[in-house]
Amino acid sequence: MVFIIEILKKIPLFDGLEETDLKKISEVVKERALPTGTVLFKEGEKGDCFYLLKNGTVDVFKKDGDSDKKVTSISHNDESSFFGEMALIEGAPRNATIKTATECDVLEIDKVNFDMLLRLNSFIALRIMTALTKRFRSESEGAKEEAKVGKIITVFSPKGGSGKTVFAANLAAGIAKHTENKVLLVDLDLQFGDMAFMLGLKAKRTIAEMVDDNVEDAESFKKYLVSHSMGFEVLASPFKPEQSEMVNSNHLRRLIKIAQSIFDYIVIDTHSLFQDLTINALDISDLICLLMSPDMNHIKSMHMCLKVMETLKYPSEKIRLILNREESMYAKPKADIETALKRKFDFSLHDDWKHASDLVNDQKTVFDSNTPSQYRTDFIQCISGLTGEKIEGSDPSLLKTIKGWFGN
Ligand SMILES: Nc1ncnc2c1ncn2[C@@H]1O[C@H](COP(=O)(O)OP(=O)(O)O)[C@@H](O)[C@H]1O
Ligand SMILES: [Mg+2]
Repeated sequence: MVFIIEILKKIPLFDGLEETDLKKISEVVKERALPTGTVLFKEGEKGDCFYLLKNGTVDVFKKDGDSDKKVTSISHNDESSFFGEMALIEGAPRNATIKTATECDVLEIDKVNFDMLLRLNSFIALRIMTALTKRFRSESEGAKEEAKVGKIITVFSPKGGSGKTVFAANLAAGIAKHTENKVLLVDLDLQFGDMAFMLGLKAKRTIAEMVDDNVEDAESFKKYLVSHSMGFEVLASPFKPEQSEMVNSNHLRRLIKIAQSIFDYIVIDTHSLFQDLTINALDISDLICLLMSPDMNHIKSMHMCLKVMETLKYPSEKIRLILNREESMYAKPKADIETALKRKFDFSLHDDWKHASDLVNDQKTVFDSNTPSQYRTDFIQCISGLTGEKIEGSDPSLLKTIKGWFGN
């Protein structure tokens, strides 16, 4: 009896029931010894029994065309050594076939006995209904979150000062202004990131508080963001450099997952070191923008960086190589750099100190005004190319090539 109660405790359907309730349920359990090869139930059949595995192993089969394909096995010492629990409530069709792989001892509760128990004991019925409503609610919330999966674009460069932060900020602003998408800009330069400051925003909370407060849902997540007038949100880097230690890669993955349920695009600005957090950001990204300036130091570092990307087994379609400050004074010609790197640039942005430094000095993105410039046009091409969105001023022939990068 004690054994049965211990198993019942692990079953989500009986969450919230007290020991005395579980004892009553255990009284309607029947024990059966089954030889190897017994089919307990078949996929598609209407379910009327629930089983707990006391000894042995069963195989789980799913229909695959005309035949059944084994998908997994369940053994009596597995964490979830039970199957078919929902049959007790809704008599739903079985979603798999279960066959004993060894001799098995199973405990069986049938729907008739279980219904009787519920009728006689309204307390148990009430508790089970409460547990079920909770479960249903969390499942439908999960479904809502899964419905939207934002694309992650991480901006990286093996060298500092290559223009990552200016690029990431303008990218977020451009997507927000010129497309219908919801955009989040994440400052992952955790020690010395100044994205919020550059954008003239006063963040009240940062990623450090978000981690500290153990944020787990979309509604709470939004409270840690600061809005930009261009229509995108910013998750700021910590106020103090020492707080950067608070954020680890598990936090990052969890937080970005929440962000993906709210935003269409998540743009991540990084710093120039291959450390755990950055590699995790690169891992989970749909696209990695590798930025470089046209000089020897950057060429050498980018050469190594592309090798690391290969070692990390990132497919080449995940990477966009971007030349920043094209045609700046003393710049190496674009074609020579491409030859040296054995890779073509996907996009380039011209050298434009005035417009690039608008962000640094005046807290303005290129998209704050509509003043035309080569730099702005370069950006529109780049945004259009990265997102596959048609933006006024972008080249339609380019759009054809990029359709499909994101599978849209
Ligand atoms: N296309 C560009 N033309 C001219 N200056 C640029 C350009 N892009 C960036 N800069 C300048 O380069 C400097 C470094 O940019 P920043 O985005 O802070 O680099 P990172 O984040 O990679 O360290 C800034 O002063 C910025 O104004
Ligand atoms: Mg930076």
